[in-house]
Amino acid sequence: MKYVIGIDLGTSSVKTLLVNKEGEIKGEATASYPLIHERPGYSEQNPEEWVNGTVACLKQLLQESGVAAEEIEGISFSGQMHGLVLLDEQNQVLRNAMLWNDTRTTQECREIEAKLGNQLLDITRNAALEGFTLPKILWVQKHEPELFAKAARFVLPKDYLRYRMTGRVQMEISDAAGTLLLNVPEGAWSDEIVRAFGLPEGFCPPLLGSTEEAGTLLPEFAQRCGLSPNTRVFGGGADNACGAVGAGIVRQGDALCSIGTSGVVLTYEEDKSKDFGGKVHFFNHAHSGAFYAMGVTLAAGYSLSWFKDSLAPGLSFDELLAPVGSLPPGAEGLLFTPYLVGERTPHADSVIRGSFIGLSGTHRREHLARAVMEGITFSLAESVELFREAGISVERVISIGGGAKNPVWLQMQADIFGTPVVSLKNEQGPAMGAAMMAAVGSGWFGSLKDCADRFIGYGKTYEPIPANAAAYARLFKVYQQVYAATRSLNEGLQEFRG
Ligand code: XUL
Repeated sequence: MKYVIGIDLGTSSVKTLLVNKEGEIKGEATASYPLIHERPGYSEQNPEEWVNGTVACLKQLLQESGVAAEEIEGISFSGQMHGLVLLDEQNQVLRNAMLWNDTRTTQECREIEAKLGNQLLDITRNAALEGFTLPKILWVQKHEPELFAKAARFVLPKDYLRYRMTGRVQMEISDAAGTLLLNVPEGAWSDEIVRAFGLPEGFCPPLLGSTEEAGTLLPEFAQRCGLSPNTRVFGGGADNACGAVGAGIVRQGDALCSIGTSGVVLTYEEDKSKDFGGKVHFFNHAHSGAFYAMGVTLAAGYSLSWFKDSLAPGLSFDELLAPVGSLPPGAEGLLFTPYLVGERTPHADSVIRGSFIGLSGTHRREHLARAVMEGITFSLAESVELFREAGISVERVISIGGGAKNPVWLQMQADIFGTPVVSLKNEQGPAMGAAMMAAVGSGWFGSLKDCADRFIGYGKTYEPIPANAAAYARLFKVYQQVYAATRSLNEGLQEFRG
């Protein structure tokens, strides 16, 4: 039997998945590592932890599965996006990696906007956000000039891991899209941006496709894990691209709704000229020549877990949500906005906070719980609306994460998005997308589409119920007014925040 391995290098842990030619999981191992928060807003990690965690997982995977090293044909990756790993001329790491959730770079974002003007959106197709990589590079350039003088190049987290496994410094394109240094429609580094910020020659490494071969394992790395040095290593993808591939988002018309701590809606797109004016992210997909548009709700699952922990601490999620299904859409006149930690899409705003609107003496805990679920889904529906306004047809939503575990929530998504919603039979997340890239790279399938047809199975389809969809369409209009109506109230409250 032949196998591939998908490595998902996440923010809190690395997960590895051993998959056979039928798409069956034959082994799984995870290892966690710490985040370093030296100051408020700082979020860093030591890249060596990624390497050590991955080695431990690969060793465990081989030992527990009993699979022979020679049977593993290929390895590929999913990676936490945007993290800055600075390397010197000898490819030694110069400082801890600054991660996607590090928010110290607001000033650098404003500098990027001032210097690039309209070019920023024309070239990168994305707004300057604190999480992205270029603001981090500029922060080091300004605050750590002596260290920056030694920097020869930069890579992203999973590209660093792949470098340590193969000895080759490359950057995979769906991840490069989140740096603000890539010309996204052209799929090439932007010389204009590199020059505008005085970055050294060769600072941006050669680009690599998701299913393209990076090389084989270095003999010393293979030996550390018990793998064969003949194992081929492929590009991989950004975690959101891999999550999409792992959920079978490989055709126009399909969208992904992922409700984890944060929530993401994402669509597959082949037209590089689609213009969202920077309101949603627009990145190169793992499929060569394709793209995806993505909107983010910062506190999605987090809003519901906050509600449970604060107001129903003794209950399980199942107990909390059991009575919710017997209430009508609109929770009998109660609305919630999920801005507990600010918002990203469509209002990139760190000041706004959440609210319950319409609270009355007849509302019980289940009304509040339903309003929270509806508010999270409305927030995601705002991104779906932006996709539709830009001419993208959203015909089917594949739902993963917490939102896919509850039938009432799946029906609610169908009613609010106005599309059929399906969940996955066997949800494995971005590690499965990474394994699929290794499967295609190894020649098992001609394309990620063919691989998805074999590997991905769907559960029940939830069709929109017309009366519910009509009620939600009216309520959505009220929901969309809450942001503007509460913006200045939240400014006034800012000084009282802890
Ligand atoms: C995407 C983003 C996050 C990270 C998490 O823009 O910041 O989804 O990719 O790893």
